[in-house]
Amino acid sequence: MTGIDVNYDLGYPIVIGKAGHFAEFVRHLERPALVLCDARPAVRTIAGRVARLMGRARILTVPLEERRKRLPTVERLLEQMSAGGIERSSLVVGVGGGVASDLFGFACATYMRGIRYAHVATSLVAMVDAAIGGKTGVNLRAGKNLVGAFRDPVAVFCDVTALRTLSATALREGLAEIVKAAIIEGGDFFNLLEELSGDPPARWPWERVIADAVKVKTMVVADDRLETGRRETLNLGHTFAHALERASGFTLRHGAAVAVGLRAAGLLALRTGRFSREEHLRVLTLLALFGLPLQTAVGTGEIFAAMRGDKKRRAGRQRFTLPRAIGDVEYGIEASAAQVRAVLRRLGEAPEELRARR
Ligand SMILES: NC(=O)c1ccc[n+]([C@@H]2O[C@H](COP(=O)([O-])OP(=O)(O)OC[C@H]3O[C@@H](n4cnc5c(N)ncnc54)[C@H](O)[C@@H]3O)[C@@H](O)[C@H]2O)c1
Ligand SMILES: [Zn+2]
Repeated sequence: MTGIDVNYDLGYPIVIGKAGHFAEFVRHLERPALVLCDARPAVRTIAGRVARLMGRARILTVPLEERRKRLPTVERLLEQMSAGGIERSSLVVGVGGGVASDLFGFACATYMRGIRYAHVATSLVAMVDAAIGGKTGVNLRAGKNLVGAFRDPVAVFCDVTALRTLSATALREGLAEIVKAAIIEGGDFFNLLEELSGDPPARWPWERVIADAVKVKTMVVADDRLETGRRETLNLGHTFAHALERASGFTLRHGAAVAVGLRAAGLLALRTGRFSREEHLRVLTLLALFGLPLQTAVGTGEIFAAMRGDKKRRAGRQRFTLPRAIGDVEYGIEASAAQVRAVLRRLGEAPEELRARR
């Protein structure tokens, strides 16, 4: 019993398992110089267990939240690491969600020009997305994740037991990314989510669901580590989502924005003659069953203006990743301003297709 090792092509182990699998996971890792963790009590408890199993390593607790994912927090942490005698050859282990993997990962990517870092993911977002793929970073006032580094962790452990204490909101954030991955992958993965959509989360085969989602991310990332092409596939729904988050003054949560963004991508794909109405409906139905929103009160003009600041724009043109079918996603598609505006106008209302079905 070692959990599921999703060791595709990234060159480091990604193990998905229960708390009991962790001892096996760390067999090949040395004793870390430091265990960093998010201050939330449930995460602290996991970090305590991790530190015990890793040779009674020292724990440093860092109060984290999106608002603190900023350079001053990194500087304080780096000073503490330096005062704590962390060396160029040290291994640091981080425990927490996506804010932790981004911020701890970034601190370790820059400390002495980079030290080894392993992450124990405790939130669904970290397990299926943030902790995988080597993107680390923090926010600037101008926007999210504007400062960062590509730096692979040496290992990632996804502790599915941790999901028991995760809030319903945080779980939904992860589900939005899982639906995105399932649209990219299609086939059995999407069917599985449809089957599970009627069951309470406590009964889900989480190891399998997370492994499927991680597989999508690792396959795409392995092909395009620095995001010069295929990695844009993972941006499905995100051009809209990022604009929505910004236009809402970041009051809208990322997962909620991604759900609305996936609807928008589907609408734009329909409008440009790429996607079928039936499959668009399947996606909307799944998102709705997971309790994710499909509409927004943020106005068309504000979202459109926010899209102009997207860091993924090239030569001033907006490019989209759009579904051609569930299981077939294209990137780098340009759409006219009129087409985009027409899609944004629809987002103010609940999908009439779904209303008609009820
Ligand atoms: N680098 C990437 O590729 C990438 C990808 C996706 C998201 N991200 C980043 O990830 C962040 C979002 O991640 P997140 O949703 O995990 O946020 P988060 O780390 O803030 O965690 C969400 C909340 O859940 C709590 N939590 C975490 N694990 C818990 C557990 N087991 N039990 C109870 N509570 C727990 C946290 O304390 C926090 O309050 C964003 O900053 C986003 O930019 C990065
Ligand atoms: Zn996302």
